[in-house]
Amino acid sequence: MRRILTGIQPSGHITLGNYLGAIRPLLSLQNEEDTELLVFIADLHAITVPQDRQNLKKNIKELAALFLACGLDLNKSHMFIQSEVPSHNQLGWVLECNSYIGELERMTQFKDKKQKQVEGVSAGLLTYPPLMAADILLYDTDLVPVGEDQKQHLEITRNLAERFNNKYGETFKVPEPFILKEGARIMSLVDPSRKMSKSDPNPKGFIALLDDINIAKKKIKSAITDSDGTIRYDLENKPGISNLLTIYSSLTNIPIKNLEIRYENTNYQNFKEDLANIVADFLTKIQSKYDYYINSGDLDLILNSGRDYAYHYASRKIQKVYRRIGLGRN
Ligand code: TYM
Repeated sequence: MRRILTGIQPSGHITLGNYLGAIRPLLSLQNEEDTELLVFIADLHAITVPQDRQNLKKNIKELAALFLACGLDLNKSHMFIQSEVPSHNQLGWVLECNSYIGELERMTQFKDKKQKQVEGVSAGLLTYPPLMAADILLYDTDLVPVGEDQKQHLEITRNLAERFNNKYGETFKVPEPFILKEGARIMSLVDPSRKMSKSDPNPKGFIALLDDINIAKKKIKSAITDSDGTIRYDLENKPGISNLLTIYSSLTNIPIKNLEIRYENTNYQNFKEDLANIVADFLTKIQSKYDYYINSGDLDLILNSGRDYAYHYASRKIQKVYRRIGLGRN
């Protein structure tokens, strides 16, 4: 049985970047034989930076309903909330004790996020990667679908697994990242040198899966491009248009080369108009399913069942880890 696992932080509205970087690759694997998906809402990770209690609660449910609205097949998957499975904290601590401050301080995401903190930098922001490693290693995960920004966290997860295995004996499976070439790094619509982020204070920079359809269309139409006027993929010189081509291609499965030919004799306005309609259709489909799930009593039942499955699996793993180290009496 091949196990695929991924998590998303409920730290804002889920964006098209999250969808294309993590959810779409995850779903692309769910029909393969002998495969199980574990999907979780990384709420413990979200509190490494300040969160408003009410928003956090709302975002957790919203994210659960969105996973389902995007097409997660419950016959193939288990969905749960990270804080409802205490083994994540337990293994997180053990892995923290096997991590070095130096390697954690070198993490790009830590360095970036540290700059943005006005109320001080929490210790949790530094120890974020061992907790993420725990999420993955608890379940003998084979593959982790993520966007490119998580590559370094996957590398440290692999290092921690190998370090632990060497020190205490074979305990963890060493996971592989699953990063698609296209869509792994969707950029901001107002500044294509930055990645699209759900915590961007400027909402024009991202498309949220739950954005009002007309507002989403406007965001695409006013996306920053260049003055050269040709619709061509060139990341270095035309990052804005290249980003829009990537979004177009990922949502329609039309190769970028074909899009360049299709739009050869047109202008940015036509191209953006078409893309705005494609994004609108995509969002409309997701939002109607979302409305169903968020209002259905099923959501809690699904999360209960996911929690029970994860709890059972992870508890056995953490007991094994404790025994290996010599903790407690067993
Ligand atoms: P988070 O919540 O920041 O993002 C969730 C997923 O979306 C991807 N992503 C993007 N992909 C393409 N373009 C973008 N602009 C973009 N923005 C975000 C992220 O790479 C990620 O895959 N640390 C993780 C959450 C996590 C996790 C885990 C993931 C916690 N434990 C265990 C996998 C396995 C995070 O911050 O994701």
